Amino acid sequence: MRVIVEPDRDEVGRRAAQFVAELVRRRPTCVLGLATGGTVLGTYAELIRMHREEGLDFSRVVSFNLDEYVGLGPTHPQSYRHFMQQNFFDHINIDVRNTHVPDGRALDFEAHCEQYEKHIREEGGIDLQILGIGGDGHIAFNEPGSSLGSRTRLKTLTEETVRDNARFFDNEDEVPRLAITMGVGTILESRRCLLIACGESKAKAIRETIEGPVTAQITASALQLHREVVAILDEEAARLLERREYYRQVEHAQTLMRSGQMRPLSPTR
Ligand code: PGA
Repeated sequence: MRVIVEPDRDEVGRRAAQFVAELVRRRPTCVLGLATGGTVLGTYAELIRMHREEGLDFSRVVSFNLDEYVGLGPTHPQSYRHFMQQNFFDHINIDVRNTHVPDGRALDFEAHCEQYEKHIREEGGIDLQILGIGGDGHIAFNEPGSSLGSRTRLKTLTEETVRDNARFFDNEDEVPRLAITMGVGTILESRRCLLIACGESKAKAIRETIEGPVTAQITASALQLHREVVAILDEEAARLLERREYYRQVEHAQTLMRSGQMRPLSPTR
């Protein structure tokens, strides 16, 4: 896993947005996997700025969101569809027909989840999946104990997640207890993952994700099995990492290689 530590939340947002923008420029028809939550707001704000000021073009981009609360319709102020419209889609030129968020009011959840997976496959799979992380180490709503091979399905939220997310609702009782979420297995199939974390409250989960064993108790740790993950962290979220100095050296070497000052050794014959 590549680990990039930035000084603060704003820099994390800018850095993550650069990865997304680079892909959108190179492949205008790319498929993005999108996340909700406080952490990704900086990334979306920077992408909106790039769209407005630099003409970053989302007109042919396709997107799939990770999850949605069960019971909330698309116009409910706490639904993730509403979050995406307010914080991203309404400010860029993406075609809303190309944006997909699970339907929290589907009549047949099992069929809807299967259809969601099928739709991702039909679009050619996710090129870049953006991920936040929960204090309990979840990715999407894959709570501790989720199978690492899981697919899109219904999931019961833990008390910790309900408490964490209560800040967006009037009170804790209003937080739905069930969500539709892409599975860990679904996420692992994306071509590249961008894990974003900010703040002290994520430090322990980040250490366990990056330096702990792979375990269903910390579903983000399954990312260690993925072929291409970039973790972009602020100082606080990176605080408990033991190999921070090494990650810094790796980034330094990458910068030198990109600038041509250092070349990888040619393979021996
Ligand atoms: P947050 O949520 O960005 O609001 O902290 C992340 C998550 O729970 O996945």
